[in-house]
Amino acid sequence: MNAKVLVIGANGQLGSVLVKALQHRYGDENVIASDIQKVNSFNGVFELLDATNMNKIQDVVSSHGITQIYHLAAILSAKGEANPLGTWELNMNMLFNVLEVSRINGLDKVFFPSSIAVFGEDAPWVNTPNNAYLNPATVYGMSKAAGENWAQYYFLRYGLDVRSIRYPGIIGYQSLPGGGTTDYAVDIFHKAVLEEEFVCFLNADTTLPMIFMDDVIRATLELMEAPKKDIRIRTAYNLAGSSFSPEDIVKEIYKYYPEFKVKYEPDFRQDIAARWPKSINDVEAKVDWGWQPKYDLEMTARTMIEKLKAQYIPHE
Ligand code: SER
Repeated sequence: MNAKVLVIGANGQLGSVLVKALQHRYGDENVIASDIQKVNSFNGVFELLDATNMNKIQDVVSSHGITQIYHLAAILSAKGEANPLGTWELNMNMLFNVLEVSRINGLDKVFFPSSIAVFGEDAPWVNTPNNAYLNPATVYGMSKAAGENWAQYYFLRYGLDVRSIRYPGIIGYQSLPGGGTTDYAVDIFHKAVLEEEFVCFLNADTTLPMIFMDDVIRATLELMEAPKKDIRIRTAYNLAGSSFSPEDIVKEIYKYYPEFKVKYEPDFRQDIAARWPKSINDVEAKVDWGWQPKYDLEMTARTMIEKLKAQYIPHE
């Protein structure tokens, strides 16, 4: 297997962790991280890359002999609402550029993350099935729903092996999210460990599908390495970790920090969250490529607190 992997959006919450996992899997020299800025501490092969520039993607693919692309760059749900048309243009243009370069160069595989944000009010709120009706109410969600269909189109029309997962909110200690509606679920742990008050932009009882970073990385690699014949869904696979609300997280945090203080000041992000599913049915991912989550809320909270404590207070 001579994979040469390009990661677009390597500085992001997921990208920064996924790059390390890919380096471990394929060797440092076979993973090309790219983003619009370079992070000084990054170890490995890096290219400055603005994915709105198709020629630049082509240059990087040619010069490194790229065989796979993980296209992770996007403006997320909350940030995207500040500039709806700009968000649509950016998210879609980057995807089109990646799909086109991948098609023209005959790449082996492409990964394009989708999201629970593709669902809207008309999907069942509990145990939402893979083929539920999609009427997203954010530009980000619309760009992911459209993107899934374009992914499937490139597969059906050109045979491009594009694979996708609808990620729940991702919780990890390794990196910070930016611009999403589920970001609170990472920030809350940082505040707890720093023993600071947390102001939550969602209501206490807003249950959302969430997943721990280690599970997300494993799911992504498992999907990408599954035999092509097993990938029956070419839009995107539902994926579930576990579902919980801010007050559920707070209960876990109290076990470690009984004095933890939280106050609820819901803003526009509450309206976004209110239209998303509370829980996800991921039976297709389980059947087609053997998906099983490992982390429940209790394990997620314990691991987040242990790891963040070690980051903030290294000598304790
Ligand atoms: N976590 C993302 C967001 O909140 C959803 O994909 O926007």
